[in-house]
Amino acid sequence: MKGNRPGIAITGTGSYLPKRTLTNADLEKMVETSDEWIVTRTGIRERHIAEEGEGACAMAAEAGRRALAQAGVAADEVDLLVLGSFTPDFYLPSGACLIQDMLGAKRAVCFDLAAACSAFLFSLETARCMIESGAYRTALVIGAEKLSPFIDWEDRATCVLFGDGAGAAVVQAGQEAHGRGLISNVMGSDGSLAHLLNIPGMGSRHRLTAEHIARKDVYVKMAGNEVFKHAVRCMCDAGKQALDMAGMTMDDVNVVVPHQANMRIVQAIENRLGGSEDKFYVNLERVGNMSGASVPVALDEAVRSGKIKKGDIVLLVVFGAGFTWGASLMEWGC
Ligand code: UT7
Repeated sequence: MKGNRPGIAITGTGSYLPKRTLTNADLEKMVETSDEWIVTRTGIRERHIAEEGEGACAMAAEAGRRALAQAGVAADEVDLLVLGSFTPDFYLPSGACLIQDMLGAKRAVCFDLAAACSAFLFSLETARCMIESGAYRTALVIGAEKLSPFIDWEDRATCVLFGDGAGAAVVQAGQEAHGRGLISNVMGSDGSLAHLLNIPGMGSRHRLTAEHIARKDVYVKMAGNEVFKHAVRCMCDAGKQALDMAGMTMDDVNVVVPHQANMRIVQAIENRLGGSEDKFYVNLERVGNMSGASVPVALDEAVRSGKIKKGDIVLLVVFGAGFTWGASLMEWGC
């Protein structure tokens, strides 16, 4: 198997977290839980929650602005804008169009991509392929989620896990001088397991009624234990495949940015993939699981803190509802 054609690379990253934080102590007052349970079972201590009226798109636009500034790219140079999210401001029109207007990215072709927690990586690979086709040169790829309206704040099994936020990356052609850029990518899906993580009452199958709301079908439902096992297996397999495609091993990798669902999942991946703990960038303690925003926010933090440096080999691994999963291997060039 071959890796990607060289020269297509991430040239800037940005992220945004809403100001308000919700700590484990706050949650102890809302549901029957404890800081001890949440920290031991998940590693999460606090998460950010967007205000009423602050949608995923405003957060996405701010993350996008920061990524464009880091890349030194003007908004009107962007010719492709992809939003990976299952919580855009509205189902109609797409969130990407709203973000285009907020940024003034007038030339961009804009669309949303739904792949739950894998949405940023799927969007990144979609943008890479569209750039590789020669039709586009500069893409803004964003993972943004406002999960808080879709959480049952009386369900302790889910409400302690999630947070809101946005992360973005500028992806450009013609970066040969800056290393290999996006080297290899693996993605997978298994719709037979859709029922293990879903929002059963939202969408076109049923008209939304008071009954759905009373049954709490408008909130995220998850069979946590089952999801856990698949998450570890799929992220490890995808990571290994992306490395194999590039003829690399974990010894070649400097930083792994995994989906930030649970510290125990990250540790299981560390054990199975190999590689020392300090190679894994983890921020879930401060932000919880932000679904499609988790990896781009962590990636931006790792870049801005100096954890990821020019020339580093970086591996992203993701897993989410669908199920969907994937891995992207890249040489950091900026
Ligand atoms: O981002 C997309 C992918 N998502 C994931 O990858 C998440 C994967 N799953 C997980 O991270 C974990 O399964 C959870 C953190 C969701 C749950 O951890 P767990 O160790 O699998 O716990 P559990 O669901 O097996 O529950 C164990 C016990 C139960 O009590 P009983 O039945 O043993 O008496 C739960 O009712 O813990 C109870 N429990 C809680 N107790 C205190 C569940 N949530 C809480 C809570 N506080 N917040």
